[in-house]
Amino acid sequence: MSFQKEKILIIGASGQIGIELTETLSKIYGNDCVIISDLNPPINSTNNTFEKLDALDKNALFDLVKKYSITQVYHLAAMLSATGEKNPMFAWKLNMESLFHLLDLAKEKHIKQLYWPSSIAVFGPSTPAENTPQYTVMEPSTIYGISKQAGERWCEWYFKKYQVDVRSLRYPGLIGWKSSPGGGTTDYAVHIFHEAIKTQQYECFLSESTALPMMHMEDAIRATIEIMQAPAEKIKIRSSYNLSGISFTPKQIAEEIKKYIPDFKISYKPDFRQAIADSWPKSINDDETKKDWGWKEKYDLPKLVKNMLENIK
Ligand code: NAD
Ligand code: SER
Repeated sequence: MSFQKEKILIIGASGQIGIELTETLSKIYGNDCVIISDLNPPINSTNNTFEKLDALDKNALFDLVKKYSITQVYHLAAMLSATGEKNPMFAWKLNMESLFHLLDLAKEKHIKQLYWPSSIAVFGPSTPAENTPQYTVMEPSTIYGISKQAGERWCEWYFKKYQVDVRSLRYPGLIGWKSSPGGGTTDYAVHIFHEAIKTQQYECFLSESTALPMMHMEDAIRATIEIMQAPAEKIKIRSSYNLSGISFTPKQIAEEIKKYIPDFKISYKPDFRQAIADSWPKSINDDETKKDWGWKEKYDLPKLVKNMLENIK
């Protein structure tokens, strides 16, 4: 099949998603066909070629694409919601300029396909919070969300104007045991497992009733690769697709953890991230995603908790 011939570059490969995407793409395409890049090498060893790259350096990016005859780029380098609020101007610069570099490389036909993730952060306090549809009011209130929404518009524009084959998913909060999250509002749902196992207690930075859309990393990686491998004509949305997984509150995940660790105790001390979480949807409707390219998640909350605890132990 044609996708076997791809030469892939992952940018931001040392991050929470990059580590797992590297592993899965390497199993499909082979280590030699997956080049990884980041400001810093990944903490775990891989058999992939690592190239130090600042995604803001367009010339270095171009050189790398040419050096390895790259056909596909997964662009994961970004500043996430919580860190972005602390450094808004740089978050905007990193999230937007690096995307422009890649959209231009695709426009100039140096690469064939681009994956760029968006987020539930594109929605805001005026968006219907339950079962949030694909098309709705979007008034993001974080710099991260504003950059993702602007990025979505640019992706669609490059597709319409220059037929750039860019594909995107609005990830919910991602939860995996192989990697640590990097400065998001949904990070508590990963930290909670590590603390439950290590100390049997966790102080949560969100309130007990804060429901947010979440997803097991395995599902997210599968969705990412499925959308990239889908025939182009099936990708009807070139801004970004809603992606629904599980919706739960800190209290609900803690109760599920207690089934395995009965002594586990959770306390709540909401900080600035509470306002970010309150502005996001509680659950996502991804009917368009299911209809267009056949997406279906595998993990529900009990399955996710069991998998996380078994693997982190
Ligand atoms: P992360 O912070 O864990 O990883 C980002 C990686 O990018 C880091 O390894 C960092 O070193 C690297 N990076 C930062 N600046 C760079 C630069 N200038 N050049 C090259 N590399 C640079 O983030 P993640 O969770 O893996 O997220 C990846 C993408 O997915 C981001 O676009 C993020 O917005 C999106 N996303 C993530 C989630 C989630 O829950 N993790 C949810 C929605 C969307
Ligand atoms: N998990 C991400 C964050 O919290 C959502 O994009 O920033």
